[in-house]
Amino acid sequence: MVCVVAALVCLDARPVIAGGQEPELRPQAAGTGQGAARPQRSTRDFLGLGAAPDEAAAKLGEPLFQANCSACHGAAARGGTGPNLVRSVLVLHDEKGEEIGPVIKAGRPQGGMPAFTSLTDVQIYDIAEYLHLQVELAANRGLYKHSDTMTSGDVEKGKAFFAANCVSCHSATGDLAGVGKRFSQPSAMLARIAWPSARGPRQATVTTPAGEMVKGTLVKYDDFETTLKAGTGAVTSWPTATIKVEIPDKLAGHRALLPKYSDDDLHNLTRYLMTLQ
Ligand code: HEC
Ligand code: HEC
Repeated sequence: MVCVVAALVCLDARPVIAGGQEPELRPQAAGTGQGAARPQRSTRDFLGLGAAPDEAAAKLGEPLFQANCSACHGAAARGGTGPNLVRSVLVLHDEKGEEIGPVIKAGRPQGGMPAFTSLTDVQIYDIAEYLHLQVELAANRGLYKHSDTMTSGDVEKGKAFFAANCVSCHSATGDLAGVGKRFSQPSAMLARIAWPSARGPRQATVTTPAGEMVKGTLVKYDDFETTLKAGTGAVTSWPTATIKVEIPDKLAGHRALLPKYSDDDLHNLTRYLMTLQ
């Protein structure tokens, strides 16, 4: 089984919730859950790993990681343009997001990592737990089943599923024309269907210190400065701390479908989209 599919099945059991629900409950539950949810204690001790990752949180953190971090840190957190987080000393030392959280919130602007000011504490906790689980899986290779090959998938069924579920936003001859050319591997296509990254410029609404609302295209957005190009072409910059920035999540509708796909649906869709050459 492909690991992304496994994750989707997991999402079935507990759909992605918007951050902010039960904000203190889960971290606390995990902190007090010594022993109970701690499998193979001796193996963990032998490997020098701390408390077992909170698997429920890790499942919620996975799509957040894929959406926000994987572009730089790699789909399995093993590095890309950003460092490998499975081998990061900082991640290893982190217990419950206390080390990872500040890096996510403030970014490393000098080093090329943006600040993620809109992720909630709970979401950050979930991402941290996802990373801990990756460390665990890497250390415990026997448990880590990953396959890059996909042999199943029915093109016609995929086409029908697409017609029923996707055409409200996509078109095989429009925005997704030739999408198959961009992915050499079915696994890359599958990952993209599961966790697309928004392309193109990001739209945002800035509320200025005077209370004025300005809509436009984000040119720059970090902890220090925000620059917006308005529809009129006017380009304005503000110190980020003085304004409110709202960035609509255009992938929300796409992600909302995730828990509804079965493994077969995803394999069929993948095969079908690969034919759009
Ligand atoms: C645009 C690329 C980019 C994105 C997106 C990104 N990072 Fe990073 N990240 C980097 C780079 C580059 C570094 C190294 C910067 C440095 O140390 O100066 C880094 C460093 C880190 C570190 C510190 C690692 C260490 O050992 O010091 C952590 C933890 C981290 N990122 C987590 C995340 C998480 C979690 C997300 C998503 C919420 C994320 N990053 C998104 C590029 C990115
Ligand atoms: C509610 C709207 C919506 C629905 C429904 C939807 N998507 Fe998406 N999807 C998006 C958006 C928005 C993007 C990001 C596209 C962009 O930024 O250009 C996206 C991206 C993608 C991408 C990545 C495209 C690329 O060029 O990288 C694929 C593949 C994809 N969707 C497949 C599907 C499939 C298959 C379905 C149906 C099972 C589906 N989507 C349903 C909104 C939707």
